[in-house]
Amino acid sequence: MTVAETTFPLPNTAGLRIPAIGFGTWQVDRTAVAAAARAGYPAFDSATMYRTERAVTGGLADAGLAPTDRFLTTKIWRSDMTERGVRSAFHASTRNFGVDTIDLLLIHWPQAAASNLETWKTMEELLEAGRVRAIGVSNFDAAELDALAAGSDTVPAVNQIELHPLRQRKALVEESRQRGISVTAYSPLGQGGPVLRDPDLTAIADDLGVTTAQVSLRWLFQKEIVSIPRSSNPDRIRQNIDLDGFALDDEQMARIDALPKQGRN
Ligand code: A2P
Repeated sequence: MTVAETTFPLPNTAGLRIPAIGFGTWQVDRTAVAAAARAGYPAFDSATMYRTERAVTGGLADAGLAPTDRFLTTKIWRSDMTERGVRSAFHASTRNFGVDTIDLLLIHWPQAAASNLETWKTMEELLEAGRVRAIGVSNFDAAELDALAAGSDTVPAVNQIELHPLRQRKALVEESRQRGISVTAYSPLGQGGPVLRDPDLTAIADDLGVTTAQVSLRWLFQKEIVSIPRSSNPDRIRQNIDLDGFALDDEQMARIDALPKQGRN
């Protein structure tokens, strides 16, 4: 099975699974989405705040795909975190995607506990009504996860957080997983910054004949963390899902686990 075909369990759902890799759509356009769709990305991560939901639908159509052919995620923005706001944002997202049901709906950023809970309760109702297949959160720390759990029995399926080899968030990954929540990594390439120039990643990439971006994404894949890399460049879009011709051995995984190094980056 290829990386693009691999799915990980989506906890706290009726046996749903989430593709191991998706295309991040922050600051990308319809042309990039179409390139990603043609390259075989099985999932597309959007958000009300990104204003890219229509670009996702349009890009998929350009590639000859229906929105229901791919796993679609979107997020509730801060200004919509009331019962009314969530319902209205959700309906706008379904219109933008041209779907009745959204695969995964997340709270984009935590706000005050009462606001998180009001938002979450409304998302629970959308879940119960079958309008979303799974609900989760983004950018939540352990205390915020606990505050949510104190007011609701519905455990988030996902905590989507910024995570890459130079920002590994080990405690938060563990705290999320201990609570039965799966982790998705956004900015898995460190937004194209120092990660891609890191000497250890570069050495591993050279040994394997791949790029540092591919090493970073393969490391996440082997840790069973979903990643959603972004690119507007067709070659890099293809490169970021071309992760099957190599694997990281235990020593290479451990070397990346030991990053970042003191006094560097
Ligand atoms: P570009 O769109 O020119 O490819 P992240 O997903 O961590 O947020 O990173 C996105 C950034 O990384 C973008 O600036 C993107 O630029 C760049 N990028 C994406 N894929 C690669 C790659 N394979 N090699 C180098 N830079 C990349």
